Amino acid sequence: MALVSENPTSGLTNIVKSRTISFCETLETLHHEDDLSDFGDSDSDNDDDTSPSKDPETAEMASLERRALKYRKSLTMLNQFASLKLRGEGPLVAAAKGGAKMQPSKEHLLAAKKSIDDLTAWHGVKRVGILGAGQMGLGIALVAANVSKLPVLLLDSNETQLNKGLKFMDSLLKKDIAKGRLTEAQADETRSRVKTTQKMADFADVDFVIEAVSENPALKATLFRDLAQATPAHAILASNTSSISITKIAASAKGREENVIGMHFMNPVPVMKLVEIIPGLATSDKVLKTTQDLAVAMGKTCTLSQDVPGFVANRLLMPYINEAIIAYETGIASKEDIDTTMKLGTNMPMGPLTLADFIGLDTCLSIMKVLHEQLGDTKYRPSVLLGKMVDAGWVGKKAGRGFYQY
Ligand SMILES: NC(=O)c1ccc[n+]([C@@H]2O[C@H](COP(=O)([O-])OP(=O)(O)OC[C@H]3O[C@@H](n4cnc5c(N)ncnc54)[C@H](O)[C@@H]3O)[C@@H](O)[C@H]2O)c1
Repeated sequence: MALVSENPTSGLTNIVKSRTISFCETLETLHHEDDLSDFGDSDSDNDDDTSPSKDPETAEMASLERRALKYRKSLTMLNQFASLKLRGEGPLVAAAKGGAKMQPSKEHLLAAKKSIDDLTAWHGVKRVGILGAGQMGLGIALVAANVSKLPVLLLDSNETQLNKGLKFMDSLLKKDIAKGRLTEAQADETRSRVKTTQKMADFADVDFVIEAVSENPALKATLFRDLAQATPAHAILASNTSSISITKIAASAKGREENVIGMHFMNPVPVMKLVEIIPGLATSDKVLKTTQDLAVAMGKTCTLSQDVPGFVANRLLMPYINEAIIAYETGIASKEDIDTTMKLGTNMPMGPLTLADFIGLDTCLSIMKVLHEQLGDTKYRPSVLLGKMVDAGWVGKKAGRGFYQY
């Protein structure tokens, strides 16, 4: 069954194309030939490379690539240009990143800034609502405000959680300043873009909501029912669920089913580059495209998954983590040896038990339950120890105790 009626690859090509045109035009307007020295010479511009292509789409892409090649010493941009064809990342974002690495001239910074402004205008989202200020919601709010420069309204039912979130955001921004990734002024701008609330009625003027409350199907169903009432008719309602059916969540948002989509960020959001996009059965192509565009504006690379339990990431990751917990509870090895085996033996950046602590054992248990119930296969049975640790409140790093102490 086709996931969506539009071929996602051709959608991606259009994204690449429009951004490359815009990127080249911006630079061509801003720079005389002499100014190109910052980007290097343009000796082999290959503008006259007339290698024939019967496919007009391919020919147009090749010509755009040659235009971008004029700025070929901006290696970061070019590398990104090459890989974005596969990954869906935009040259405008790449230009900004590349520019930053090159310590660019004022004009280059202007070009990068204009590119980002263009990008914001291009996805059409003016204000984002984030529902849930836990570790994911907070990270998503930070990236929306800091990278895509959008005003963000962060909602949580728990005031303590909101205050804790803002403090954590502040500490992340301070780290960025210390590392020279942000100026004080930029950090202040980011802070000023994030407002908090405890009332869903305040979502009356958002264009895009990203829900990131606890992984509880009944809770998400109630909140999507309320979101359908509280938000404007055009607003897109995205869920950051790790495993729950998007189609089922959409069914709770009566009358707004086609505006509901899965937008699965990875933890920690400011660091991890991927967003898994999951259209439900009713999701419109327009909603899919806007969601992909927004994710790209947030500096992320998108993949597309069918609406199946766990999608791609957690269908593969959670059984692995669960098996590691079973290995620990049945005494196959110590927790340290399990983690070290996978870290040093298979080049994982961290062991599975540490990773479970970072994700949150409550979240891991909820995802395993969804996989087990929905796929009906005993191989997805959550480990007994995982359930016991959640009962004890030892849910990982966020609680100060999981498999390890924090
Ligand atoms: N933790 C991860 O690594 C990870 C990764 C990807 C996706 N996710 C998904 O993101 C979502 C959130 O996970 P998390 O790790 O941030 O959880 P978390 O426990 O850190 O945060 C959940 C937040 O939801 C809030 N909340 C609960 N009920 C609410 C309500 N009725 N109204 C408003 N806010 C409410 C809580 O106060 C809390 O701040 C889950 O669906 C999870 O599966 C998590």
